[in-house]
Amino acid sequence: MWTRREYLKGMIAAGATFGLGLPLVRAGEQEPDVILRITAKPDVVPIWKGEPTAVFRYVGEVMKGRQDALRPSDSYLGPIIRVRKGQRVRIHFENALAEASNIHWHGLHVPDDMDGHPRHTAAPGKRYVYEFEIKDRAGTYWFHPHPHGRTGRQVYFGLAGLFIVSDEEEQAAQLPAGEYDLPLILQDRSFDKENRLVFLSDGQAGRGMMGGGMMGGGMMGGGMMGGDMMGSGMMDMMTRMMGFLGDRILVNGRPDATLSVATRPYRFRLLNGSNARIFKLAWDDGSPLTVIGTDGGLLEAPAQRSYVTLAPGERLELWADFSRHAVGTELTMRSLPFAGDMAMGGGMMGGGMMGGGMMGMMGNQKLPNGAAFPVFKVRVERREKAPGALPKRLSTIVRHRAEDAVNFRRPRVFNITMGMMQWGVNGRSFEMEGVADDEIVRLNTLEIWEFTNDASMGMMGMMAHPMHIHGLQFQILERSVKPAFAEAVNSVSAGYVDEGWKDEVFLMPGERAKVLLAFKDFGGIFPYHCHMLEHAETGLMRNYRVS
Ligand code: C2O
Ligand code: CU
Repeated sequence: MWTRREYLKGMIAAGATFGLGLPLVRAGEQEPDVILRITAKPDVVPIWKGEPTAVFRYVGEVMKGRQDALRPSDSYLGPIIRVRKGQRVRIHFENALAEASNIHWHGLHVPDDMDGHPRHTAAPGKRYVYEFEIKDRAGTYWFHPHPHGRTGRQVYFGLAGLFIVSDEEEQAAQLPAGEYDLPLILQDRSFDKENRLVFLSDGQAGRGMMGGGMMGGGMMGGGMMGGDMMGSGMMDMMTRMMGFLGDRILVNGRPDATLSVATRPYRFRLLNGSNARIFKLAWDDGSPLTVIGTDGGLLEAPAQRSYVTLAPGERLELWADFSRHAVGTELTMRSLPFAGDMAMGGGMMGGGMMGGGMMGMMGNQKLPNGAAFPVFKVRVERREKAPGALPKRLSTIVRHRAEDAVNFRRPRVFNITMGMMQWGVNGRSFEMEGVADDEIVRLNTLEIWEFTNDASMGMMGMMAHPMHIHGLQFQILERSVKPAFAEAVNSVSAGYVDEGWKDEVFLMPGERAKVLLAFKDFGGIFPYHCHMLEHAETGLMRNYRVS
């Protein structure tokens, strides 16, 4: 049960959402429409035949509001939360893990103390009360823990769920709903022979993922690593720098996923919930994908792509129409090859010390980023007529104008950098409360930020980074690429969907992007970071302050 102090702490935190000077307002009209309880706890679930798998899991219940505000999952994944724009939501988070945790509402525009910043965690056995109004447009958001240094591990062991917002405009579009609105959470994982999840060697399953042989040959001998390179500590350090990749693909927490569908359109809500895996998704029969939404909700109009690129943390919504397929048809959604770790190791870096090796090796030799693999299958099993066709217009997007930005002539530049085994932004790594002078923005202003992944830090620096900014949705204005990297970028860039609202901008090595951000409603400290969770935890995260 609540201690009074915890309750007050939660209330004060929640009270901050009501505005200045009213920390404890509890007036009737501000009562939440929806109250949920979400507990993070260790659990055991069946994933493979045989032994069940130890995981971390969010379980929840509705304490007030419609029961369908929360749909439990049948895997290790968290429940799906469904709310409407304009609703006030209170979520009692209970931490039943043996380590600190919290919840970040990825993509939602909420006050800084409700955002799940790493400085706001609940100790084991403690609670944190989140309360906010849903100000965002309809869309596929998600939630996951954000304690510094533990985020990757906690997400990997299962803590993640979808947070779906609907609104009137979306409902007017009459998209496929109910059982025809399918969440598809894509994740990669590694398991040992006892079906245990394998992560870094301080992870639950007790060992790192990289076997002996791979490090052989003294490749790095005498280099920056010194002599201790074979130890699991070194393995972990390298994996932390590069990102953890699993070799098994799970969809909605299950391997070998096959969806049974009818001959009609579906709404697919894709979330890449992996720690570091990049997907380049396409149907195996070559038919194009129809994108209807991105991180921050519906596009203005459907967009066609022959494939889509989906980096960790990003969402994409597809209109998937099976009405022209015969019953019995089977389709496979695949991840296509691209210039990922292997290409960077083998091609771009030439035959130097790291040539042909380190990038692929450090990520995952069995299934590096850039490798091809099947993701899920669709089996057309029933004949069914559906009302309604793909709408020509999906939503209205009111764009900001770049020329209204206060720094239109001199965008704020965020260089992704690497120091001694530490990622950084402009040479600085994460500090819990740290905000540099050039990371302070003014409330109620519009700014242009330019992220650069110049990949000029040597082979370790040649990695893709999906940069995520907390607290808002932004617009991607333009991209550019260094000529030497154009070919690698071209292997994924036709799959970018930059035209909608985004909370992440994906940058291949050699790429730059300008984004337009409006800071409104909430002051305070918000993180921005790479959503390769291991990169964030080895420095590629900073705070910005709105004041
Ligand atoms: Cu989904 Cu700070 O991240
Ligand atoms: Cu990164």
